[in-house]
Amino acid sequence: MPQQSAPRPTDLVVFGGTGDLSMRKLLPSLYLLDRDGHLHPSTRVIAVSRDGLTDADLRHKADAAVQGHHAVQVPETAVLRRFLDRLSHITVDVGGDPTGWTELTDTLDPDRDRVFYLAVPPMISGAICRGLADAGLVTVDSRVVMEKPLGRDLASAQAVNAEVGAIFTEEQTYRIDHYLGKETVQNLLVLRFANVFLEPLWNSRWIDHVQITAAETVGVGGRKGYYDTAGAMRDMVQNHLLQLLCLTAMEPPASYDREAVRDEKLKVLQALKPLAGENVREDTVRGRYGSGVLHGTEVLGYLDEPGGPTDSTTETYVALRAEIANWRWAGVPFYLRTGKRMDRARSEIVIRFRDVPHTIFPGAATGGGSLVIRLQPDEGIHLTMLAKTPGAGALRLRSVPLELSFADTFATRSPEAYERLLMDVLTGDSTLFMRRDEVEAAWRWTDPVIAAWADLDLVPETYPAGSAGPAGADRLIGRTGRTWYEEEQA
Ligand code: BG6
Repeated sequence: MPQQSAPRPTDLVVFGGTGDLSMRKLLPSLYLLDRDGHLHPSTRVIAVSRDGLTDADLRHKADAAVQGHHAVQVPETAVLRRFLDRLSHITVDVGGDPTGWTELTDTLDPDRDRVFYLAVPPMISGAICRGLADAGLVTVDSRVVMEKPLGRDLASAQAVNAEVGAIFTEEQTYRIDHYLGKETVQNLLVLRFANVFLEPLWNSRWIDHVQITAAETVGVGGRKGYYDTAGAMRDMVQNHLLQLLCLTAMEPPASYDREAVRDEKLKVLQALKPLAGENVREDTVRGRYGSGVLHGTEVLGYLDEPGGPTDSTTETYVALRAEIANWRWAGVPFYLRTGKRMDRARSEIVIRFRDVPHTIFPGAATGGGSLVIRLQPDEGIHLTMLAKTPGAGALRLRSVPLELSFADTFATRSPEAYERLLMDVLTGDSTLFMRRDEVEAAWRWTDPVIAAWADLDLVPETYPAGSAGPAGADRLIGRTGRTWYEEEQA
């Protein structure tokens, strides 16, 4: 892996700096980077918003956000004070009163790297970039960071990419998909390409199918306004799940180099068989959580969640069957599923191997075994295989696990995805970020599915909150005699 270079003095300007993402993820991750010595002593964080906060207000809010973050636990008082001192707030009215831009210009230090983090809806990214350019703030040492979902379809993504691309070069542009910052996701590349034993098995000859699951117990929380315009397809599948699919299916790149890795991921997206028209009825399932009981607590159904329409047709669950039309994967289904308010939270990739071509243990259980790459919780790798149950008499075979838990093996804290990615932005390494053509290729594949849902009038099937999702998902995978992987099977 490329060595991280030393942190450089940077002005990190966060547009939307007082918002949900900033408070929940960015500031706590920056605190953790500071605590672990990854921020240059003079690096500053400038939160930009329309809120009219004072620096003291911002620091107060940030203090609570850092202290309330699960990965921080007990903050170190001196570090927290040092971190809060790095923060300031500037009120900017993008496209309006220019005073804020002037204040930002006066604040930024011409000798430092500049990172402009756009923690804002993608529609205003272009206006912010133009504002930065008009104020003469974009230097050669500037970078821009954009959040997903980038647009809401191919056309809007192209428009945002063009607007931002008119100001920043592709090398200066960092498109975040925070799943790529997760430790196990990076480990997937190491598992596949630093070990020799998997590669001969990694194809349609030995792999029966792949399942990629991202299940959450949380609902939409306070984000219904945004979520209702997106749904699970745009919020999770178009980016996180397709990125996991790419890393699972890609060919070995020639090196762990930014462009080499992205080129291989792009080829996977381009090889996805189009899912459109009537096929969408067969190969996809939309669901929406109704009210239910989650871990003993009654929770609202999606339609009754505050902050959005009560007659919505947005999905909070998607399951689908994808196929990659190339030599390695032809005929191997990739089942993707994601949902909110599920019975348990887990994100994992399951590689399900084929059964042996001929069994010499007639009557005994067969089963090709599964390799499970668990992203969360309990990051690890888990291989199930058949073994003989001890004892005399007839041979009895049982599926048993071989377990690698990262927490137990490495006895060290796994950094938060945002910590890793923010550090990469600060050191100028964009390997784990999405290139423009990747994002657009992903939309090119998801757009026809979303269009077909509307054309075929496929409304979401209700599943109770706290359940395993809609029954349609079991039918989808069951059609070929397969079942969803559940840990208990091991
Ligand atoms: C975000 C989505 O990108 O990822 C959220 O917008 C989702 O809806 C979140 O809850 C899940 O991330 P994680 O890291 O908790 O799996």
